[in-house]
Amino acid sequence: MGDQSHGSPQEAGAVAKAQAGSVDTIQDPGLPPHRPRLTDTEPRAAKRAERQVGILFAISMIGTILFLVGYFAVGHAESIAETRLQNMLLGLGTAFAMLGIGVGIVHWARTLMPDHEIAESRHEVRTEEDRRDAEEIIDTVLEESGIKRRPLIRNTLIGAIALAPLPALFILRDLDLTKASAGEIVERLRHTAWDEGVRLTRDPVGTPIKASDVQIGSAFHVIPEGLNELEDPLNEKAKAVVLLMRLHPDKMEISPEREDWHYDGIVAYSKICTHVGCPVALYEQHTHHLLCPCHQSTFDLTQECKVIFGPAAHPLPQLPITVDDEGYLVARSDFHEPVGPGYWERG
Ligand code: FES
Repeated sequence: MGDQSHGSPQEAGAVAKAQAGSVDTIQDPGLPPHRPRLTDTEPRAAKRAERQVGILFAISMIGTILFLVGYFAVGHAESIAETRLQNMLLGLGTAFAMLGIGVGIVHWARTLMPDHEIAESRHEVRTEEDRRDAEEIIDTVLEESGIKRRPLIRNTLIGAIALAPLPALFILRDLDLTKASAGEIVERLRHTAWDEGVRLTRDPVGTPIKASDVQIGSAFHVIPEGLNELEDPLNEKAKAVVLLMRLHPDKMEISPEREDWHYDGIVAYSKICTHVGCPVALYEQHTHHLLCPCHQSTFDLTQECKVIFGPAAHPLPQLPITVDDEGYLVARSDFHEPVGPGYWERG
């Protein structure tokens, strides 16, 4: 009963060694010898590293100031050029603000903070003595980090950290919904610049389009006439952009309530993807599919832009159109549902 057999000769040998009390013990190899960095031995190198860290923190401050200039000086951008400039200042400012602090701290740690390794066994922290030890360690870390005796680093770090949250505060302030009630916001999203009799014009030149200009297989990017005279043309354009195409009427499946929403096979659909709002910019003439480049949602033009692939949950809203006395394409009304993603209070 007590006699057990062991499979391989190695196993049998190991068991025999263990039984004889002669198993090899694992030796702690210890820490590798500490190699001092140039900044540990050369005061001038340390001073140079200190200046570099200070410059990185200063870059962070400049980034935040750049953001504030973009936000306040450019203000309410009213043209595409102003919007581009503002986006560039906001983007670059945020990037420099974050990168400056991040890279500065990493550079500081790698060049100036002590880099000797310490190994300590873990134990539970319970007693008053442990607490005092912890406080002592924090004091030592502060002392060794050099923050007390390197005023350049300390001051630029304080400046960078104090300024860094400002962009986030201003952006959050803009989300203040108390300026408009939730109902007002939904109403703004529900209606676009399209209305009965508004001409369809080419984006961005604004020339009106005749039905005879639209050939089968062609696609036009369209905005409502008079868009630039509106109070907030960029936001209005963002909601009202439309794609205009012509199909052979025999190829279209048309529901009874939409019989008069097209003009001789010319149809207009919102260009804003119903997934998360990217512009649906690709039209495949042979398949009559519209593709959203962001997440590949595909809408079938022959089936009233029903979703046939991808994450979008709703068809693209259709703009009812006809022609006026001069043969120009005009809207019959606004969209009959909110454009864009479903979370814009569809229904
Ligand atoms: S935004 Fe169009 S598929 Fe996601």
